[in-house]
Formats: sequence, C-alpha cells, structure tokens
Amino acid sequence: MKKSVTIRYQQLGDAKRFYEILNSQNFTYFPAKPKTIKEERDFLRKNKEWREQKVWFNFTILYGDTIVGAVGVHRESHRPYCGEVGYFVDEEYWGKGIAVEAVKLIEKMAFEEFGITRIEINMIKANKASARVAEKSGYRKEGIAKGKLMLNGETCDCFVYGKAKNN
Ligand SMILES: CC(C)(COP(=O)(O)OP(=O)(O)OC[C@H]1O[C@@H](n2cnc3c(N)ncnc32)[C@H](O)[C@@H]1OP(=O)(O)O)[C@@H](O)C(=O)NCCC(=O)NCCS
Repeated sequence: MKKSVTIRYQQLGDAKRFYEILNSQNFTYFPAKPKTIKEERDFLRKNKEWREQKVWFNFTILYGDTIVGAVGVHRESHRPYCGEVGYFVDEEYWGKGIAVEAVKLIEKMAFEEFGITRIEINMIKANKASARVAEKSGYRKEGIAKGKLMLNGETCDCFVYGKAKNN
C-alpha cells in the first residue's frame, strides 16, 4: 500500500537520520555532508531562530511514520517574496514520488503562509533526478545560472527552474 507523504518542522532528534542519509554514496550533487551527528544537530539547532526571522523554513519529510528526507524554503533577504526550495530523500526511497509530493506541500505553505510569491529550484546541470522533480512539480526551466552553486569547493553552473504564485 502506498504510504502518505507529510512534512513537519525539523527536530533535534532528526540529526542521526539526516547524518546517515546525507552521507550516502549516491548523494553526488548535494553539497551538505555533515561530518558528525553533532554537526548535524548544531545545524538543526539554528532552525528555530531562522523560522522566527522568517528566513529559512526547514521540514522533515515522513513517508508513513518513517523519516525519509528533508525539504526547505529559504527566502532572499533583499527580496523576501522570493524563495528557493531544496530537498533530499533517502536513496532507499527514491522513485516513489516522495520529493514531488514534498515540493507540493512546501509550495502551498510558501504561497499561502510565508508570503512568498516566487519559488526557484536550482540544481547542478548533471542532477537529472532533481531537474525531473522540478518539472514534475510544474516548474519551468528559466535558464542557466553561471557559477551559482558550490560543490566540493568549486562553483558550478546550474539550471534555474521557477514558478510564480499567480502565473
Ligand atoms: C533528487 C531527489 C530528491 C529525488 O527524490 P525522489 O523522491 O526519488 O523523487 P521523485 O520520485 O519524486 O521523482 C524523481 C524523478 O526523477 C527521475 N529520475 C531519477 N533519476 C534520474 C536520472 N538519472 N535521469 C533522469 N530522471 C531521473 C525518476 O524516474 C522520477 O521521475 P518519473 O516519476 O517521471 O519516473 C533524490 O534523488 C535525492 O535526494 N538526491 C540527492 C540529493 C539531491 O540531489 N537533492 C537535490 C539538490 S538540488
């Protein structure tokens, strides 16, 4: 039976799962690789303040009762109506439509609760799975941003996908 995908705000107790997921061999194009569980917990500790400042809203993705990944929206400080969505899913759960479902859930919150009216999704050009998630979630490829993303200490070109609330 297909389980439901839900999201909830991240908790400190999620650190161990995120540490394991993010250190997976196949996370080739994702820049964040915590070196220890403590490092991940220290990151999660900042979430409350980011939420209060309305700069970064990070959620844990649940598939049924299991933590399978994360999705977040980060708003630009000088254009607070613009947000960037990012996500990751445990490789054991890839291909079940979980990321697409999570993007739909966070997009609804961003447009209806966080005052965001434009969302971007950026991915390294080789990250075909992420590009597919953006397309399946109704985002349009707008172009290439030169040197926007950083991977393994090097800047890389990325695809920019976007969607505006009212068009
Ligand atoms: C990108 C990621 C979140 C996708 O998660 P997911 O839950 O498997 O995504 P979904 O199942 O919702 O959709 C994935 C789509 O990509 C497709 N896909 C996967 N690998 C692909 C590849 N190498 N080439 C083309 N399409 C690919 C899948 O077939 C699926 O499309 P379909 O339903 O039309 O078949 C997951 O692969 C991940 O966590 N990767 C590592 C972290 C990362 O790169 N995050 C994004 C940073 S921008």
